Amino acid sequence: MTATTNPQPGPITIGVFDSGFGGLTVLRTLLDRFPNARFVFLGDTARLPYGSKSRRTVSRYAAQSARFLVEEQGAQFLVIACNSASALALEAIQQAVPVPVLGVIEPGADSARAASTTGDVLVIATDATTRSHAYSAACTARGLRAFEKACPLLVPLVEEGWTNHPVTTQVIRIYLEELFNEAHANGLTPDTLVLGCTHYPLLRPLIEQAVREFAPEGFRVIDSAEATADAARALIGNTIPPTTLNQDQEKKQIQCFATDSVEKFERLGTSFLGRPTGTVQLVDLGG
Ligand code: DGL
Repeated sequence: MTATTNPQPGPITIGVFDSGFGGLTVLRTLLDRFPNARFVFLGDTARLPYGSKSRRTVSRYAAQSARFLVEEQGAQFLVIACNSASALALEAIQQAVPVPVLGVIEPGADSARAASTTGDVLVIATDATTRSHAYSAACTARGLRAFEKACPLLVPLVEEGWTNHPVTTQVIRIYLEELFNEAHANGLTPDTLVLGCTHYPLLRPLIEQAVREFAPEGFRVIDSAEATADAARALIGNTIPPTTLNQDQEKKQIQCFATDSVEKFERLGTSFLGRPTGTVQLVDLGG
């Protein structure tokens, strides 16, 4: 991918896409790296979850969403915060829009490479992401062995707001016990766990607590949000003129769109973003 340029005067517009509002965890880190950029975020909440759908369907939904951000909202650079869309539809999205597109899988694998000493890493993600083996491929390309596990109950639990609930604690414990047992049975000595889904950073305290039961001291839990923001910085990098947002632009620095459930987005999205999402606008992308 080549670096982007900002031909328009004023702040660059970065589009961030997710199947829902979990991708706000990625937007959060992007805001740190790009304090003077304008962000348009789209959550395709009407068609969530992507994590249980086929490549064909995810590609169609994601390409439509990407076109909305670029053609209607003027995004000059796209970050696909959704792991499932990054795993299944990155190429389809790149073909659909004429701007650089960055997914979360490669940066996530870079983080795993930097974190792991044994070279064996675990990945938890949606069913679609694990079935695609996109993380395995990216990890293998970096000399790592990856062992993936789908944890399909975790997204609905987060969507329900049960990020600190005994049921969620128990579900995570069961998944991780299985994961460590299966990895050891396959001869791996993992020292790093990749959170390969937008929603899982919200469960990090519970996941870290469960990891302590099954893994030795020093075991690392990582997510791709920070690495993705760093990769975006490297790509957009110095091509951004040192603009400062004026007061009016600051108020509109983030514009969020959703294809359904805007009230839920505004309510739960604030905890993902770490600041109020502002008014979320409803958009209809068709079927
Ligand atoms: N955003 C999705 C991901 O990161 C999780 C939610 C979904 O299944 O659509 O894989």
